[in-house]
Amino acid sequence: MANYIKKKDWQISENLATPESAYLRRREFIQGTALTSLVTVGALYGCGPSTPPNSLPGVEWNDTEKSIYPAKRNSEFELDRPMTDEKIAGTYNNFYEFGTDKADPVNYAQKLNTRPWKVEVGGLVNKPKTIDIDDLLKTMPIEERLYRLRCVEAWAMAVPWTGFAFKELLKLVEPKSSATHVKMETFYQPFTAQGQLAFWEPWAYTEALTIEEAMNEITFLATGIYGHPLSNQHGAPIRLAVPWKYGFKSIKSIVKIELVDYKPMTFWTTLQGLEYDFTANVNPGIPHPRWPQNREKMLGTGAIRATMPYNGYGKYVAQLYS
Ligand code: MTE
Repeated sequence: MANYIKKKDWQISENLATPESAYLRRREFIQGTALTSLVTVGALYGCGPSTPPNSLPGVEWNDTEKSIYPAKRNSEFELDRPMTDEKIAGTYNNFYEFGTDKADPVNYAQKLNTRPWKVEVGGLVNKPKTIDIDDLLKTMPIEERLYRLRCVEAWAMAVPWTGFAFKELLKLVEPKSSATHVKMETFYQPFTAQGQLAFWEPWAYTEALTIEEAMNEITFLATGIYGHPLSNQHGAPIRLAVPWKYGFKSIKSIVKIELVDYKPMTFWTTLQGLEYDFTANVNPGIPHPRWPQNREKMLGTGAIRATMPYNGYGKYVAQLYS
């Protein structure tokens, strides 16, 4: 993902690991150089892992959460594959605010303080609200759903999310009929999240859906995973789960939701719109310049599976695109 700048050799390589790691080393070098020149900023930042690697930190419970997790599983959503091991899913993450290596977020994301946390929901709505995450947990119909996640980088996982349907939140604020899209935004705390010091990237991370996509029954706001509150590396305290779209659409650690009447630019469409399009539905028939999209590798087991159109969720969403 991070290697959004095209290079010819990447386009011909089918190898998933080597070109990316080579790029990431280069990117880290460039970032490191830029940071070195920003002596004051670098000194202020004082980076370093806050927890030892190879543990699974980031899970904290308050009283509200203790009364919610684990939530009842919705039997509508069954998996066609084994669930991904929690330790694997929680140590191989994309969360570029906290580093470009998959092993970075489990360490660095623990710096993010997720309480108190408010989500501002506004724009073209009749009842704009700024809601405290714990009040949201008490108000929403919380359930557990087993979903697949397919990353555009051709890896996949299957995890139990806890949370609520996005449409339940939208009902609370009453969208106006002029709203066509829903824009979402992650926090902006560059001194906590080193990745956001990369001033040449369009932070804060943003994503967006059409209003019809946001209202779809499988569009989910996750507050938990594996029967407990979300760990920071997965996007605590609240993240999106849109399982028929490539993983980059599932924005983490949301602070703002805005209903608008235009198609917003997003983090990835701004960086490289030709590779990361707005709709980004999982589609084995459309190859990505750098990753095969007709097959995927399961995290942990390494099993190779054929990628399904809409990641297998066509019965819920295909009609949105007819
Ligand atoms: N959200 C934010 N704020 N920042 C990110 O870098 N990465 C995206 C998505 N959400 C990302 C994000 C990508 S590329 C993927 S594949 C998924 O999160 C990964 O989710 P996971 O780490 O919980 O598996």
